[in-house]
Amino acid sequence: MKKDFLSITDIDEYELESIVADAVRLKRLKSAGTSHEFLRGKSLGMIFEKASTRTRASFEVGMTDLGGHALFLNPQDTQLGRGEEIRDTARVLARYVDAVMIRAYAHATIEEFARYSTVPVINGLSDSLHPCQVLADIMTLHERFDDLHDVRLAWIGDGNNVCNTWILSSALTGMEIAVASPPGYRPADAVVEQARAAGGKISIVTDPAKAVRDADVLYTDIWVSMGDEQERAERLRALKDYTIDSRLLEQSSPDALVMHCLPAHRGEEIAEEVLEGPQSIVWDQAENRLHAQKALLVRLIAGGMPPAE
Ligand code: CP
Ligand code: NVA
Repeated sequence: MKKDFLSITDIDEYELESIVADAVRLKRLKSAGTSHEFLRGKSLGMIFEKASTRTRASFEVGMTDLGGHALFLNPQDTQLGRGEEIRDTARVLARYVDAVMIRAYAHATIEEFARYSTVPVINGLSDSLHPCQVLADIMTLHERFDDLHDVRLAWIGDGNNVCNTWILSSALTGMEIAVASPPGYRPADAVVEQARAAGGKISIVTDPAKAVRDADVLYTDIWVSMGDEQERAERLRALKDYTIDSRLLEQSSPDALVMHCLPAHRGEEIAEEVLEGPQSIVWDQAENRLHAQKALLVRLIAGGMPPAE
């Protein structure tokens, strides 16, 4: 039976641990220049309804590193842009490739694709979730903390797709997630309820200072996500007091780390001095997209990594 990765909750804590361990091994192999072509002859289809730098580049380079091939499919240049149905595209592509990564506006599009695809489907971001990002971020935190249980992450700003994914990951990692968002920009109630029912430790507050007080990690993301552009002016107004700047950072513990999934808008959700400052680990996060997704691809396509020699 094929396995999809549409949500971080599609894996359990043991699978998460094993993917992170594989990702660490793949990172070492790459840095040593050791060949690791565990997906030789395999192909990944990549459909992007929205823009991407990191997701596209890391999946494409990842497949090349693994001895396989990635195929970039832009809806504008395929029949999807001319109205071919997603369920027809899914069934056809599944006959050519070994897995599909899809970035779509509506989460339902990815779910429909997965229903009709006979090969594994990976969510490369939807309006509600971004599981590949949080997988890489968890790997990044494992490089900094021996144990993630009780590590406290403060999410500051828009309760968006990346925020939802952090909330859903709480029960898997044991991390506490404190979200500070203004009314109207809080994460979806259904997501918070699902996370709490699974054992996640989630708190939702309005005041950013309250969320960062005991935090080990501060996280933010852009205020205007892809698809929200028409709300730009009202979003900037509503979120203006939610910038991670040095004043907010000073209210947290002195060794708190700062994360951002990127792209960043300096002067909006994050100040230049924080993004470029010593507590920022954003470039490690971006790098780890490559290693974490390679581990995920090997698991979904080949069933896991060969034993280490
Ligand atoms: N963080 C992230 O997913 O970046 P891209 O939109 O550039 O892929
Ligand atoms: N929340 C952002 C993440 C970009 C990687 C968006 O959906 O545009």
